[in-house]
Amino acid sequence: MKVLVVGSGGREHTLVWKIAQSPLVESVYATPGNGGICREPKTQCLPWPGSLEALADMALEMGIDLTVVGPEDPLAEGIVDVFQSKGLLIFGPCKAAARLEGSKAFAKEFMSRFGIPTAEYSIFSDPKEAKSFIRGVGAPIVVKADGLAAGKGSIVCRTIEDALSAVDRIMIEKVFGDAGNRVVVEELLVGEEASFLAITDGEHVYPLAGSQDHKPVFDNDEGPNTGGMGAYSPAPVITPLVYERVMERVMRPVVEGMREMGHPFKGVIYAGLMIRDEDPKVLEFNVRFGDPEAQPILMRMESDIVPALMASIEGGIDHVEITYKSQAAVCVVMASGGYPGRYEKGFEIEGLEDVEGMEGVKVFHAGTIERDGRIVTNGGRVLGVTALGGDIREAIARAYSAVEKIHWPGVHYRRDIGAKALRRMGGGSCPC
Ligand code: AMP
Ligand code: GLY
Repeated sequence: MKVLVVGSGGREHTLVWKIAQSPLVESVYATPGNGGICREPKTQCLPWPGSLEALADMALEMGIDLTVVGPEDPLAEGIVDVFQSKGLLIFGPCKAAARLEGSKAFAKEFMSRFGIPTAEYSIFSDPKEAKSFIRGVGAPIVVKADGLAAGKGSIVCRTIEDALSAVDRIMIEKVFGDAGNRVVVEELLVGEEASFLAITDGEHVYPLAGSQDHKPVFDNDEGPNTGGMGAYSPAPVITPLVYERVMERVMRPVVEGMREMGHPFKGVIYAGLMIRDEDPKVLEFNVRFGDPEAQPILMRMESDIVPALMASIEGGIDHVEITYKSQAAVCVVMASGGYPGRYEKGFEIEGLEDVEGMEGVKVFHAGTIERDGRIVTNGGRVLGVTALGGDIREAIARAYSAVEKIHWPGVHYRRDIGAKALRRMGGGSCPC
């Protein structure tokens, strides 16, 4: 098979790495790819051809057998519909189903309609009405841009003043563009977060290994939200009871609800959860693999991923078996100085060769590019240093021992990735 992966981040590098291991796959193409993707075996990076139509034409000409979409933007823009209209096989939800991530207002209304547990909310398209509602209910409260905002559109507000200024920034200053035409204002949920991902074929749901992201930029979950500063799998907060509840109250109703609405959901459905006393509530839906959750999940996945991707498209995901290594995996994201705010690009990354060959360690590239044979920084999140270990403690220690060998000016990363899992397991503090 010839497989095309769309995207250029750490998640896409992980997908390429995993897909290239499949005995069913003879070559992998990535567009636009990044400095690490291009170095994977069987793999070639191709320039972004400019539009979804042009990409589909390119896939047809090249005889691509399967296309896998990493990020949410092309899904929300309808890449699946475009490819399907040309008879191409593509993994992911159609445009109508991708609204579960593309519009938070749609997702909240969907959850209300199908009885999926989530925070109480109101939706506003007029900033004055949003503000008067906020003054009425008080803080703490969460203000969210309706549309896509690279994981940064949800603002947790401790005071009424913060919430009013969040409305101004989203709806008047339009810091997230048209994504801020409407806001969702919702109740603040407390508890511990987890990411629950599953592959669906529109009818059946096949859960993937549990994981936990670390969204705020600084240790102890301080500072502004990012796309994700690290992740681990498995996530002990997803107990067997939580797992049952998420499948029963969230995953099956999503798939049944989307079918009932006439848009069966195919691809990865990802529920961002807040869990308190083993009672899960949905913070958000994503319609693709998490980044960086894909890194530890796929690092642990033992079975070939390609049959699962094909079964999502063609049906029969309930007949596929996905198996995992019993080991834990941890991914530490190394970011450019200034991220998630402004940052400079173009610094040479030193030390990558020192971690090659380290047992159980894989460096997934995100914002990197190859120039004259050297790898340089080219984005906010630059690398996802991922390690397997006999348990979470060993995986953390391995990941950080690799991270410490890699350097460029201004690099920063969280030093507490995995610490919550250690605390839950009574493991004390993080050995990093
Ligand atoms: P979202 O963009 O909806 O995934 O939100 C990003 C992050 O904001 C989440 O991972 C949570 O940390 C936080 N968040 C979003 N909604 C809520 C909520 N209702 N209560 C508490 N925290 C929230
Ligand atoms: N790690 C969060 C996301 O993929 O949206």
